[in-house]
Amino acid sequence: MSADPASYVLGSHAEERDRLERQHQIWRPEMLAGWDRAGFGPGQRLLDVGCGPGFASLDLAERVGAQGRVLAIDSAPAYLEHLRQQCQERQLLQVMPKLGDLAEEREPASELDEALGAGHWDGAWCRWVAMFLPRLEPLLDRLAAALRPGGQLVMHEYIKWETFALYPKGDQLAKFASRCIQHWLAHGGDPNVAQRLPQLLEARGFRLLSSSSLMACCPNDHPKAKWLIDFLSSYPHQLAAAGLWSADEQAALEAELARGQQHNSLWVTPAFIEMVWERQ
Ligand SMILES: C[S@@+](CC[C@H](N)C(=O)[O-])C[C@H]1O[C@@H](n2cnc3c(N)ncnc32)[C@H](O)[C@@H]1O
Repeated sequence: MSADPASYVLGSHAEERDRLERQHQIWRPEMLAGWDRAGFGPGQRLLDVGCGPGFASLDLAERVGAQGRVLAIDSAPAYLEHLRQQCQERQLLQVMPKLGDLAEEREPASELDEALGAGHWDGAWCRWVAMFLPRLEPLLDRLAAALRPGGQLVMHEYIKWETFALYPKGDQLAKFASRCIQHWLAHGGDPNVAQRLPQLLEARGFRLLSSSSLMACCPNDHPKAKWLIDFLSSYPHQLAAAGLWSADEQAALEAELARGQQHNSLWVTPAFIEMVWERQ
């Protein structure tokens, strides 16, 4: 079966790609620190599962160098094409973009599973992907099969999306956050997916080496507040298109955000975490 990009709730249009790039820049230091903890380095073979347009894949390519390999997997052809072009321009032959549906059952084996092989990879990176999958098990089974013993998996995923807030007076934002959650659940995703991962990964022979919070609480001018404001300027359109957000609700949200930005406010991100796992 070919991957179906239409089923991915955030879409793969150019505006979303640009938002992912800004998001990547903001969270890049935390990403690099996680890779340091996992010992990702030169000559390694690494996976970028749900790579999107491949902003992290390019960083992984730099890390592993010309002797390493990066298999960058996504279900959105437009994102993989973007990555392919970037690799061509930078002459990064070590990156292999691969179209595939990570939520698809592993039997019968797909082209993606042939590319993954068994016990072939030294590590894997997974950020903001598990939360969108209608079935989590196929992704985790693939990681368990693909990583060699001692291979490390770094995940950055949400654990409590409801914490997304603006204080004081963020009632409309709280309403907006609950509609986002409703939208993702309706598409088979789970915005609190990290709550389920420890049990599912342990059952597949992974051991948790470290975990930490990536949640932030910051003022208006902080890059992570700007990241949230960026999301708030794009996602209402998608919620509205799904019939989950009205023009009146949007007007109330905009008034609330304007007031929040005129005063000293606290922005609290949806709670997300880093986990570093080792394949036993
Ligand atoms: C929020 S983006 C994150 C992209 C990238 N990991 C990053 O951190 O910038 C989620 C990505 O997951 C991909 N995705 C969603 N469902 C997928 C599936 N079933 N199989 C493969 N990729 C999927 C989307 O196409 C999208 O590129």
